[in-house]
Amino acid sequence: MDFIGSHILSIDQFERADIDHIFSVARMMEPYAHRHQVTKVLDGAILGNMFFEPSTRTRVSFGCAFNLLGGEVRETTGFENSALAKGESLYDTARVLSGYSDVIAMRHPASGSVAEFASASRVPVINGGDGANEHPTQALLDLYTIEKELKSSGRSLDGLRIGMIGDLKHGRTVHSLAKLLCCYKNINLQLVSPDALQMPGELVELLSSTGHQVTISDNLASSIAHVDIVYSTRIQEERFVSQQEADLYRGKFRLNQSVYTKHCEPNTVIMHPLPRDSRAEANELDSDLNENPNLAIFRQTDNGVVLRMALFALVLDVVNLVDKSAKPVNWYTGSRFQ
Ligand code: NCD
Repeated sequence: MDFIGSHILSIDQFERADIDHIFSVARMMEPYAHRHQVTKVLDGAILGNMFFEPSTRTRVSFGCAFNLLGGEVRETTGFENSALAKGESLYDTARVLSGYSDVIAMRHPASGSVAEFASASRVPVINGGDGANEHPTQALLDLYTIEKELKSSGRSLDGLRIGMIGDLKHGRTVHSLAKLLCCYKNINLQLVSPDALQMPGELVELLSSTGHQVTISDNLASSIAHVDIVYSTRIQEERFVSQQEADLYRGKFRLNQSVYTKHCEPNTVIMHPLPRDSRAEANELDSDLNENPNLAIFRQTDNGVVLRMALFALVLDVVNLVDKSAKPVNWYTGSRFQ
């Protein structure tokens, strides 16, 4: 695809070659994200970071990624703090905000809303999550992480064995990741959820019809026994009609060190888009896994920055200028990226 000036709304836009291209630009961004070098290639550019639903890492990493390329970030957070709460349409909001920004990252609680907003925007819009529909940048950073994690043990994305666990009905990260995996070969996908929270039928159909092996189950132990990646997710309680209904499903599939040791192959990588729900009644990914070297959740969040830097550089057409504008870092950088 031609990235320049494009909206990034859905994984449907990408072919395998596009993903390879994004990942090669993301690798190029590593020295900048890891503070070995500085670039000001987006000096003067403005990101409108519009988050109409709760977010920590997605919002902050979009902002950081833009800052690391030398650009400025303007933020709106919370529906109630915006004119949408006064009945303004997405069309009007998009016309206004795209006059103040060079690119917009947006999250909104309604499926399809970011695409609707993008159709009225005069600048590129990147989907930071639209309801239960999609979260394309999370899926890209997840796949980037999977590729990196598997490389060290000689495994690759083709032939990947992955278990997705939890709320597969409402989880937009697993929807986008499932679509992304369709670009690869011979994927073995174990889908583990309560019956009522299964992956949407059209996505299962898409995976099966593109030649992948899909198993649907509600048995955690058998589903994580022969996979490269365990991808745990939170029950998306904000998508249920009532808290009581969400409570029916919380805490059903808990991964902790003893479950991992008993059922998983050595070196099975543990992932989660975060936030993990650490309340006792949920606790889908126990903190006793924190010292497990195969826990990749914080490597995922670090990778979110390079991946989003790559998308900004591609969409704003500065990939070839980044290295030309590079300077060394001259402040204390700590040890967080070593
Ligand atoms: C996810 C989301 O918002 O869809 N979080 C994220 O962006 N990393 C997952 C979740 O909220 O459970």
